[in-house]
Amino acid sequence: MQNQKTVLIYKNLLKNYKMLIREATNDDIDTISRLIIDVTDKNPNEYSAEQINAWKKYNTPLQIRKQMKNRLIFCVIKDKKLIGTIALKKGCILGFYVSYSVRKMGIGTKLLDYLEKYASEKKMPKLKLISTPSALTFYKNRGYKIIGIVTSSIYGIDYPETEMEKIMSIKPMPNIGYK
Ligand SMILES: CC(C)(COP(=O)(O)OP(=O)(O)OC[C@H]1O[C@@H](n2cnc3c(N)ncnc32)[C@H](O)[C@@H]1OP(=O)(O)O)[C@@H](O)C(=O)NCCC(=O)NCCS
Repeated sequence: MQNQKTVLIYKNLLKNYKMLIREATNDDIDTISRLIIDVTDKNPNEYSAEQINAWKKYNTPLQIRKQMKNRLIFCVIKDKKLIGTIALKKGCILGFYVSYSVRKMGIGTKLLDYLEKYASEKKMPKLKLISTPSALTFYKNRGYKIIGIVTSSIYGIDYPETEMEKIMSIKPMPNIGYK
């Protein structure tokens, strides 16, 4: 368990922690699948065994390959190792995971910053997501507001979860000379 002092030390280390965020390629599929399944296994208290199994089935390499066709997946690389991932599909944030061993070091924040910057550049008016119970505070602190409870169904298993959104800031219009 990390205490506050450890988190602070990690955050200071992060300043010199060179990471690369890039779009995922087919070569990353197996690693992304492993990362999602590993993090899911290490969060056993959030979901029932049935929900965990369905989620793992939904994130096999074969499924990630299919998902890649209609979503943009980004990953964060450190020392040639993929340590986090986040995806975007039609204005929705999906598949946001950071490797368990480097959690709470600010890597998720950097990934979300990257995605929000990408969304702003693409002039997306808002970003939506469905939050896991443990990530709620993280998203609230990032300015996401709860808009309701939704039930997703994966392989016939229901997941009632919290839907959130963030209105992206709209840059002021350039001065075009009107008074
Ligand atoms: C959510 C997640 C991607 C965040 O990644 P991360 O690298 O740990 O995030 P950061 O280190 O940037 O954390 C930023 C802040 O959120 C807090 N935080 C992050 N994850 C948290 C968690 N699971 N529980 C409680 N607090 C958390 C951190 O302590 C930190 O708070 P601080 O700024 O006050 O110190 C990561 O926890 C994860 O992979 N979770 C499991 C999968 C999941 O729930 N994904 C979200 C799907 S909607």
